[in-house]
Amino acid sequence: MLQLSSLSDIRQHTEKLRRESLKIGFVPTMGALHQGHLSLIKAAKSQNDITVCSIFVNPTQFNNAEDYRLYPRLLENDALLLAEAGCDVLFAPSAEEMYAQKAKLSFDFGDLERVMEGAHRPGHFNGVATVVSKLFHLVKPHQAFFGQKDLQQFAIIQQMVQDLSFDLELVCYPIIREADGLAMSSRNRRLTPEQRAVAPRLYEGLQLLQARLREVPVAQAQQEAVAFLGTFPEVRLEYLEVVDAHTLQPVQEISSAPRVALCLAAFLGEVRLIDNLLLQP
Ligand code: PAJ
Repeated sequence: MLQLSSLSDIRQHTEKLRRESLKIGFVPTMGALHQGHLSLIKAAKSQNDITVCSIFVNPTQFNNAEDYRLYPRLLENDALLLAEAGCDVLFAPSAEEMYAQKAKLSFDFGDLERVMEGAHRPGHFNGVATVVSKLFHLVKPHQAFFGQKDLQQFAIIQQMVQDLSFDLELVCYPIIREADGLAMSSRNRRLTPEQRAVAPRLYEGLQLLQARLREVPVAQAQQEAVAFLGTFPEVRLEYLEVVDAHTLQPVQEISSAPRVALCLAAFLGEVRLIDNLLLQP
């Protein structure tokens, strides 16, 4: 596996790949890789000639300085996992080079970012859109792979690709979970054993909500799921929403949208986790 860190090196390398008519699949990450990330590498490999993974803990998308400082950084181990998974190129730039000049341009995604993550993490999606567009320009992929885990992030990037005519295809893959249901996340490493034991309740809350939505109105099902999660003192729920999976706006009735998503964010101690579940149509 080729490992590059400078912007000019990745640019030159992917330009050469393109000249050779090789199809490039790209998986952007912030590292501390787990099976969720590796499922995207596998998908990229199966549909492309060359797979590029980036690892960059992007400072501009963290609205909380402590979260940025404590984000796990495990580059050496990540490189081993990627090589084992058959990734061809790892691009791991420095923040100094990625942001040699502070970006002045800012994004406004309208209603898409006024809910859920966007509402609770000011500036987050501006940072995501900035870094993902930089990475797209540097890597020049034919396809880019993202996880449904970050459902709103995917919607934002779809909007960006459409509005700015990026010449690439976006692909979204399902959430990979631990055996007990907890959605894999790099932040799970920061949970204490006690918090880790409670963390699968988040997904149970979503499953309860899904089951209750078959029987009672949205507001009542939502209340019951919030009450369920409220029985665990370690869980500090930030939001639990029933939304149109496409527009991400809350729905009052599940029949009012072709696809409905159940989304939550919660703190366990200082660690903020998100999860979601798509209702089967
Ligand atoms: P990161 O959190 O490292 O996630 C990288 C990709 O892996 C994202 O597309 C995310 O949705 C996906 N992913 C995370 N956990 C997953 C799981 N359990 N199952 C399946 N896929 C999962 O998302 C980011 O980094 C950043 O915001 C980034 C897009 C790299 C921009 O900085």
